[in-house]
Amino acid sequence: MAKYDLKALPIGYEVHGINLKNELPADIVDQIRKDTIKHKILVFKNQGVILPQRQLQITRWFGDIEELGIEEHARVKGCTGVLRVSNDELEGLRGFGTSGFHIDGGFLHNPCANSIYHIVSCPKAGKTVFIDLAKIIENLAQEMLLRWERLWPVWTYKQILGSCNSGPTVVAHPLIYPHPLTSQPTLAIAMGKIKRFIWDMGTATERKATREESTSILKEIQNELDKNVQYAHAWESGDFIITDNLAVGHYADADTQMTKEEVGLRVMHRTCVRGKFVPFKNDCIPIEPSITAPNSEELPSLTDLELNLPDDVVKDIENRIEEIKKEELPIKD
Ligand SMILES: [Fe+2]
Repeated sequence: MAKYDLKALPIGYEVHGINLKNELPADIVDQIRKDTIKHKILVFKNQGVILPQRQLQITRWFGDIEELGIEEHARVKGCTGVLRVSNDELEGLRGFGTSGFHIDGGFLHNPCANSIYHIVSCPKAGKTVFIDLAKIIENLAQEMLLRWERLWPVWTYKQILGSCNSGPTVVAHPLIYPHPLTSQPTLAIAMGKIKRFIWDMGTATERKATREESTSILKEIQNELDKNVQYAHAWESGDFIITDNLAVGHYADADTQMTKEEVGLRVMHRTCVRGKFVPFKNDCIPIEPSITAPNSEELPSLTDLELNLPDDVVKDIENRIEEIKKEELPIKD
């Protein structure tokens, strides 16, 4: 018997007939976990206002909380891991997620597994836009697919979190890699945050793309994103969204930044589940579940993550990362 009702969206499904405020039986929680992987986006309707403590409990259904080193807003004090965004700075942090399609925590060795969003105060306008990353790859022309398979976008931690005092920590992921749970090809992207690429990382033909080349690659990727189906979710009061963060890109539309006076107060709580995998070309590498979360000071090194990698592979990756660090990289978005 169906545990809840699903209604198709352009990407993902609306969920009806469930109250997330209630403790749910284990089989329903299990079904939600499976449906998140299967459908990529679940939009739970009519949930009223879910307290941040409950959102953290729901987030833990999927794994450990990823804190991401983001400033804790006074309104969610004590609820570490809850990012509170708003169009009123007294109510939450402004300007998050607006720079283009991205996955959350892409700048970590192990990007977030899930992202969970709840609109606590719903304005008259302010959409979150989603895209199915596997579909983009599926629709690529063969020649472009072969080129993209060779690309590794580079993230710098300082670039993402401008207030971080430590030097930039650099992470490169394969642009295309198999999703760790479904093996479906997916993308590691952060449009507006990534500025540089490496070609053929880890092979004899490895080289850094020039700035001009990187700019042109970013335009090419944006062009493909624009051709594909995008789902602009117009929030309604009580909406609570769970996504498979590795399977969908998302961004906050420009209208999320409209003022309280224009559209009413917007408050959203976002939580993330710590990723258990490092994206890799042929396989995603599981990390030990006991790793400590990176804080705002510094990210763990590959060795801190206790990857089950042979020593020579770790050394090789770290050497390349050191090389990238030496190069002047843009650190401001
Ligand atoms: Fe985001």
